[in-house]
Amino acid sequence: MTIDEAIRERHTVRVYKKTPIPADVAKQLNERIKALNEGLDVFMSLVTNDSSALNAAVRIGITKNVNNYIVLSGKNEPDLEEKLGYGGADLMLFAQTLGLNTWWVSGTFNKGKARENGGIPGSNLIKGIIIIGYGENPGVAHKSKSIDDVSKYIGSTPPFWFIRGVGSALLAPTALNRQAFKIEGHENKVKITYAKGMYSGLDLGIIKYHFEVGAGRENFIYE
Ligand SMILES: Cc1cc2nc3c(=O)[nH]c(=O)nc-3n(C[C@H](O)[C@H](O)[C@H](O)COP(=O)(O)O)c2cc1C
Repeated sequence: MTIDEAIRERHTVRVYKKTPIPADVAKQLNERIKALNEGLDVFMSLVTNDSSALNAAVRIGITKNVNNYIVLSGKNEPDLEEKLGYGGADLMLFAQTLGLNTWWVSGTFNKGKARENGGIPGSNLIKGIIIIGYGENPGVAHKSKSIDDVSKYIGSTPPFWFIRGVGSALLAPTALNRQAFKIEGHENKVKITYAKGMYSGLDLGIIKYHFEVGAGRENFIYE
């Protein structure tokens, strides 16, 4: 499965099997995390076989076997959230290509445990966790806005790469499924913005990642 295919297959999964992540799969995840950490200058960290990520209130009822997660952290800098959104999106989709399922949680997780178990430096901010494992089901497609709701191409008929990029962005996870982004195109220039909100920086990074995969990075430049 390619990353592009993974965009179509990925949905939030909250109920997992007991199956642990095998060592060779964890190794591949850790290598991907290391490369992203270096490239983006962030600190993401995989924690396996630990069920303390979610607060008890969240664990009860809708979740099962939440035993592995990736902690999303980095230095307190203005673009931290966008970088973690971008890197986190890559990890969710890479995990999908390895046959895993995921669930991004920025609201209700146990930050203290995430810091402790993820080995996160005290000065770093933690912006969420991505729960990861073998889902009991593949999840379901989210309710989505339309291409016209979220995008505008000025001056001519939108090229194929632009439509494809917007289509990929519409499949991305966003906090509360807000999909509050706007994608504007003109010739080979693209501008992506996200309406202000609690997790808008993370969401913007996620949307940019998805747009780039769908549109092809060689087809456009950011304005
Ligand atoms: C930045 C961010 C924060 C999120 N925080 C939570 C959360 O705190 N609790 C939760 O249950 N889901 C959370 N989600 C999952 C979204 O609700 C989910 O991605 C969205 O409804 C779209 O569904 P999909 O992932 O199946 O496409 C979060 C997603 C993102 C991108």
